[in-house]
Amino acid sequence: MYNLLPLISLSALTGAAIIGQHPLIESSHSESPLISGPEEFVSSSSLQAHITKEGLLKRAKHLYKLAEQAIPEYNRPTRVIGSQGHLATLDYIYSTLAGLGDYYEISNQSFNAVVGNVFEWRLVLGDTEPESVLPFALSPPTPKNDAIFGPLVLVANDGCDESDYPANTKGAIALIKRGVCPFGQKSERAGRAGAIAAVIYNHEKGSMSGTLGQPSIFHVATYGISLEDAKLYIEKLKQGKIVPSSAYMDSIVYNAPTTNIVAQTKGGDPENCIMLGGHSDSVAAGPGINDDGSGSMTLLEVATHLTNYKVNSCVRFAWWSGEEEGLLGSTYYVSQLSTEDNMKIRLFMDYDMLASPNYAYQVYNATDAANPAGSEGLRDLYVQYYESHGKNHTFIPFDGRSDYQAFIENGIPGGGIATGAEGVKTTEEVAMFGGTAGDWYDPCYHQFCDTVQNLALDAWEFNSKLVAHSVATYALSLEGFPERVGIQAAAHLQPTLYRGHQLVM
Ligand SMILES: *[C@@H]1O[C@H](CO)[C@@H](O)[C@H](O)[C@H]1NC(C)=O
Ligand SMILES: *[C@@H]1O[C@H](CO)[C@@H](O)[C@H](O)[C@H]1NC(C)=O
Ligand SMILES: *[C@@H]1O[C@H](CO)[C@@H](O)[C@H](O)[C@H]1NC(C)=O
Ligand SMILES: [Zn+2]
Repeated sequence: MYNLLPLISLSALTGAAIIGQHPLIESSHSESPLISGPEEFVSSSSLQAHITKEGLLKRAKHLYKLAEQAIPEYNRPTRVIGSQGHLATLDYIYSTLAGLGDYYEISNQSFNAVVGNVFEWRLVLGDTEPESVLPFALSPPTPKNDAIFGPLVLVANDGCDESDYPANTKGAIALIKRGVCPFGQKSERAGRAGAIAAVIYNHEKGSMSGTLGQPSIFHVATYGISLEDAKLYIEKLKQGKIVPSSAYMDSIVYNAPTTNIVAQTKGGDPENCIMLGGHSDSVAAGPGINDDGSGSMTLLEVATHLTNYKVNSCVRFAWWSGEEEGLLGSTYYVSQLSTEDNMKIRLFMDYDMLASPNYAYQVYNATDAANPAGSEGLRDLYVQYYESHGKNHTFIPFDGRSDYQAFIENGIPGGGIATGAEGVKTTEEVAMFGGTAGDWYDPCYHQFCDTVQNLALDAWEFNSKLVAHSVATYALSLEGFPERVGIQAAAHLQPTLYRGHQLVM
């Protein structure tokens, strides 16, 4: 198993901490004692034994106090990026890691997060205001943040191609069907064709909104409406009738500087790293103690206790910023990796929302057919853990809703576990996990009430032990785990409807 590995992988290692750990290459001339690292290799059971409810709860309570620092500015506790609550969270994570001695190499990665805010909006089509209208996140304002007027024009097909936009789109409000390509692409196409605003209608029941994603200078103020509301206008436009309309959007889109924090073990083979992440930010609406206080504090606990042990693979922890704005921190991180550095990451494990009060034990259904090879092995490690502990689990779609996405899009195997957000618990799941049917897994998801009281402590402790198990297993040995082959997504990677919690398509 691992007995020979440390000797073999020594050639790849450098640094005083390693020298101190290893009597074979310890300098005999040194008078002063060398800094010595831990003696014992990590094992799943020993790392898990450090994880306690008390340890986790203490961190959650502290995190809530930090969120309260945002109250003067936001009138509520929050850890949204740019707030004092988030800045204090970053300081806490950083100083905790810095307090662990020299076990980790810690780094801040600063980047500009695109954030937006819609203050007010109005859309009048013909003589009615569609009831279902919602603004898109990251929508630019209408010119001068004022109302604009123009006819409504029906765009052909899906509005993904230039040729879908008729000549009279210029100076008009474009009515576009949802689907096939991202909302941001439709808004950009409309803007390029000279539209003054865009309205995207749903192709399934109900109202709809999402995000335009990465800003473009061609984006125009963009709204979503339901299919039911759109039908009336589509019919009129098809009959050649004119639908005079007006649009108003008071919004801003701007760059906010923020920071990812990354800590990598100095020990272990730096050519073969296992990586795990949670996000340090919350939404503006609340303190985010489950989302993702639970995952990010679990990482901090595991990182703290790992310092008692030696590792064979290097272990790299990340606390992403800007997850709630659309997976910004993790996307930026992966985009900055050279091919060489990308290839050193053997797998990425995502830990986002581990303690939902009405929880299910959810495992991302990450298969090798649609994702980089190794993803399925990681999925099965989680499954085996639940099964061997007599717990039920469900598979959930691996569909772009958390920070694993940039990894799997760039050839790095990924996976993770969660306990559920705004999904509704079924009666079958109540039989499997207890809880309340018909309620959300996390009834406080993205709300004011995502506080310390919103944590299922049993589930959190159990899942945190599983996080420890995943770290210890791969830190000890990657034997049999597929080698990295390239930095491309799997050929069968499906386009996702989500980037973070918002729809993009
Ligand atoms: C890294 O960022 C954290 C959080 O903002 C801060 O406390 C720390 O001082 C920074 N460290 C360095 C070396 O810049
Ligand atoms: C998991 O994914 C595989 C292949 O991608 C699919 O065949 C299977 O039905 C999925 N399982 C669940 C429960 O969604
Ligand atoms: C697992 O789910 C089954 C129902 O599908 C249930 O009978 C059993 O009690 C559950 N196990 C646990 C540990 O909750
Ligand atoms: Zn989250």
